[in-house]
Amino acid sequence: MKEASAQPIGVFDSGIGGLTVAHTIKEVLPKESLVYFGDTAHLPYGDKSEAAVQAYSVKIADILLQKGCKVIVIACNSASSAAYDLLKEYTGRRAKVINVIDPMVSLVKERFNKTKIGLIGTKRTVNSDVYGRKINQLKQDIELKSLATPLLVPMIEEGFFNNKISSEIINKYLSDDDLNGIEALILGCTHYPLIKKQIKEFYSQPVEILDSSLVTAHYLKQYLENEALLNNSGQVKDQFLVSDFTRSFEASAKLFFKDEVHLESYPLWD
Ligand code: DGL
Repeated sequence: MKEASAQPIGVFDSGIGGLTVAHTIKEVLPKESLVYFGDTAHLPYGDKSEAAVQAYSVKIADILLQKGCKVIVIACNSASSAAYDLLKEYTGRRAKVINVIDPMVSLVKERFNKTKIGLIGTKRTVNSDVYGRKINQLKQDIELKSLATPLLVPMIEEGFFNNKISSEIINKYLSDDDLNGIEALILGCTHYPLIKKQIKEFYSQPVEILDSSLVTAHYLKQYLENEALLNNSGQVKDQFLVSDFTRSFEASAKLFFKDEVHLESYPLWD
């Protein structure tokens, strides 16, 4: 039986988006082992019902618990908004559950006051209004304008970024009147850091683009330090599982993690 601290960190998303978080976790915590789960069979989560996203999340948590994960990072805003409370209750003391929304709200709390902030995300995340509620509770006079941008996830999963078609779609969304005059834009979907460059290029005035991967990775590091759970065993092994094997996922995973990626097919239901 391994020491608790040598156990891996579980990270999941519907597809490649969570790799933006997983990659940052590896930069901040290179000695930790990861088990990444991409639920490519059920992508996109953003268009699914809350109940469906909850069911997928519980099933994935089971797999990550079986793999002995000490922490489960929900590297997906749609699943964080639909299933965080449920997963916390479900895993109980077996693993700590971390979402990508609370670290972002803490960042907003530290850095912004009396201002207008925009948010783009999936329909599931935007319609849940989870960011709106949490940011309101800060009582810092922040006006949050949220916009659902459902074409972006399929576009990114298909490898459409840094080209003319993706620029047109991004520009169309960001031209929405509601996002006029914002000081910062929250990327409320973990797929969007992959199009961060194009989002930045859209703005002629300075708008800060807020990405949750770094704050989430630091939150995780702090937790592992506080609980004496950092991996000191010297053994590091990463695993990448997908519920439906696709070449595009493999190509994207390699883009982030080079040739260390050996993709395993792991259907959610047999
Ligand atoms: N990357 C996810 C998110 O943050 C999932 C998007 C989707 O599957 O629709 O919302």
